[in-house]
Amino acid sequence: PMVKELFGLSDLEERIRRYFGLKQVWVVPGDSDTSLHTKRELGRAGCHALRKYMGTDDVVAVTGGTTLAQVANQLTSQAPLKGIRFVPARGGLGESVDYQANTIVSTMAKRTGAQYRLLHVPDHLGEEAYLSLMQEPNIREIVEVIRSARIVLHGIGDAMVMARRRKVDEAMVHAMKDEGALAEAFGFYFDRQGAVVHRMPTAGLRLEDIQAAEVVIAIAGGKSKAEAIAAVMRFGHDDVLVTDEAAALAIAEQF
Ligand code: BG6
Repeated sequence: PMVKELFGLSDLEERIRRYFGLKQVWVVPGDSDTSLHTKRELGRAGCHALRKYMGTDDVVAVTGGTTLAQVANQLTSQAPLKGIRFVPARGGLGESVDYQANTIVSTMAKRTGAQYRLLHVPDHLGEEAYLSLMQEPNIREIVEVIRSARIVLHGIGDAMVMARRRKVDEAMVHAMKDEGALAEAFGFYFDRQGAVVHRMPTAGLRLEDIQAAEVVIAIAGGKSKAEAIAAVMRFGHDDVLVTDEAAALAIAEQF
């Protein structure tokens, strides 16, 4: 806390917390756009947040991304978390394997002695493929576990950066741009006001499951993500935000 006072970060945390009506905000010093050290610290703060809100018997749904990979690689637990089940929030999202939710989930579970389940289906499905996949008892069962998550831990990205990373086709990227897509989180795209501008049938968390989850924790930093983070906070279903100083300062400038 003393170090935080020195940097004035607790004041920033409180302003952001109040503005978006969150339960808790953590701000780590620095800018993860330019500093790997800050990105690591962001991951470490994400571990603290997760440990604080996790019970002994929870389903924890986790997204992919480089930020969540920093959480996974630093997550520890003194005693094995036998009652915790880590699950991916969504199916494969066309990310490289190190940053896929399945990979992050298995790392987290192995490092903490928790249980885990994986979801081996592509994320963006046509209506027909979705309906027939959901007929599979194995898939239906894991999807039900995912949708029952009490805790959701997710990253936030810039909409255009994420659309490109996932190789969304050009026509779709243009359509999303026209609709004002600015931010991305758990496979959904949001405009500046936090309205969802793009949705598809998904085997994984739906918006109603995110609304129903008890604790939704966002973890994202870097000045370049400030607008995206603010947009997802306006969506209004996060309880906790873990971010960095550069993003926090740029977010607070908009108030
Ligand atoms: C994706 C998540 O894997 O990573 C998204 O599904 C998130 O929720 C994105 O927006 C962020 O990635 P990164 O690498 O910027 O942490």
